[in-house]
Amino acid sequence: MNIGLAQRLRDGTWTLHTTTERAGVMPALLRGQLPIGKFIALQRGLHAVYSALEPALARHAAHPVLAPLHLPALARSAALAADLAHLHGPDEAATLAVPAAALAYADHLGELARRQPAALAAHAYVRYLGDLSGGQALRRIAQKTYQLPGDDGTRFFDFGPPEQVALLARGFRQALDTLPLDEAGVQALVAEAQWAFGQHVRLFEELDAAPVLSA
Ligand code: HEM
Repeated sequence: MNIGLAQRLRDGTWTLHTTTERAGVMPALLRGQLPIGKFIALQRGLHAVYSALEPALARHAAHPVLAPLHLPALARSAALAADLAHLHGPDEAATLAVPAAALAYADHLGELARRQPAALAAHAYVRYLGDLSGGQALRRIAQKTYQLPGDDGTRFFDFGPPEQVALLARGFRQALDTLPLDEAGVQALVAEAQWAFGQHVRLFEELDAAPVLSA
């Protein structure tokens, strides 16, 4: 049991959340004005991040700090791979360049998996609770902007119907509060989550500055 980790993470990152949702490509994405090439590059970057995070969480599934957070229903990398194949073509998707900030993020996660696996909990928080929250609005925006009426191309955002999404988010927050951490452990996770938001800002800014490529 820890001292309200879910709330501590929220309080410790909310200002950064505001910065992040306004950074780089995000405003254009929210307005439905992000060119599809940049949307694909964003999803490619996230695929690299999840492809580092999820095997690391699986590898350390028995770790006392990670075991409660290892929920297969949350896994996103296969859905992202399917979306990329749909959006960009099955053969080319694997060869799409990964944005440098996403590569650096994936490297960082690999390093944590080797040296400091408990810190991965912060990244599970930032990504999965983000996907279960604002990500749900992004799904509708992407469907409309890129004319993706069915599930194809937006499976990444799909965790099931709203009640299921709410259940997963609540379950994840409750799991955070059961993690066996002392105050120093809580502070380390808040600091790691803050780094994760900063790395998202770097990714969104990189994509904003990149030339527009066609899908
Ligand atoms: C693009 C725009 C985004 C919008 C519109 C958005 C919106 C939201 C909303 C409405 C919530 C729920 C707030 C609440 O429970 O009161 C939320 C939560 C959250 N978002 Fe975002 N978000 C965006 C981007 C992001 C990004 C890029 C990340 C990750 C880097 C992220 C991570 C999170 C996290 C971790 C939470 C859970 C906060 C908590 O309750 O602990 N969001 N977001």
